[in-house]
Amino acid sequence: MATLIRPARLKDAEKIFALIHLNRDQLVPRSIGNIVENIDRFFVAEAEGEMIGCAAYTIHPELGDWSKAMVEIQSLAVKTAFRRQGAGGMLVEAIARKVSVFEPMELVVLTFAPDFFRSLGFREIPKTEVMHKLYTGCINCTKHTDPFTCPEIAMKR
Ligand SMILES: CC(C)(COP(=O)(O)OP(=O)(O)OC[C@H]1O[C@@H](n2cnc3c(N)ncnc32)[C@H](O)[C@@H]1OP(=O)(O)O)[C@@H](O)C(=O)NCCC(=O)NCCS
Repeated sequence: MATLIRPARLKDAEKIFALIHLNRDQLVPRSIGNIVENIDRFFVAEAEGEMIGCAAYTIHPELGDWSKAMVEIQSLAVKTAFRRQGAGGMLVEAIARKVSVFEPMELVVLTFAPDFFRSLGFREIPKTEVMHKLYTGCINCTKHTDPFTCPEIAMKR
């Protein structure tokens, strides 16, 4: 199967929304409006003419040292039938390549798929290293009251 990774287009927004919704147990929900507003931060994977995966990123400033902002991988999902064929890794590397020009200090992720990210060179870190994410994202979580007891694992590369 040939997999193509490309920047998302506005017409992908509904399919991205559906894929994120399908994986709502692992991913933070996003409205279609939020996806459209951030379409330039999404990549999609295509195979056999079908959109089979998506991923996005966001940038977390580091107070007091702006050059140390970290990039968080978000909204990463591959359709079940197309998993374990490399698309997830290709999406992460496409984001890594795109953001490398900004020279971020690190790529981070909060995830239920640590083995996948380990295979891409990420390693586990304490959540205290991603406090900005906790204050901007986790604080609005509707699943867990305390990010430090939430089972998601923080990782960086
Ligand atoms: C995580 C996810 C995106 C991986 O996508 P994928 O296309 O299957 O990933 P890849 O094929 O690139 O996998 C690369 C490597 O990661 C590891 N890996 C991937 N999925 C794994 C799993 N379920 N268990 C253990 N290792 C896994 C393997 O080492 C794999 O290499 P291999 O297949 O040669 O053994 C996909 O499983 C998914 O959509 N999960 C649901 C949503 C989710 O959890 N997203 C991550 C949120 S941050």
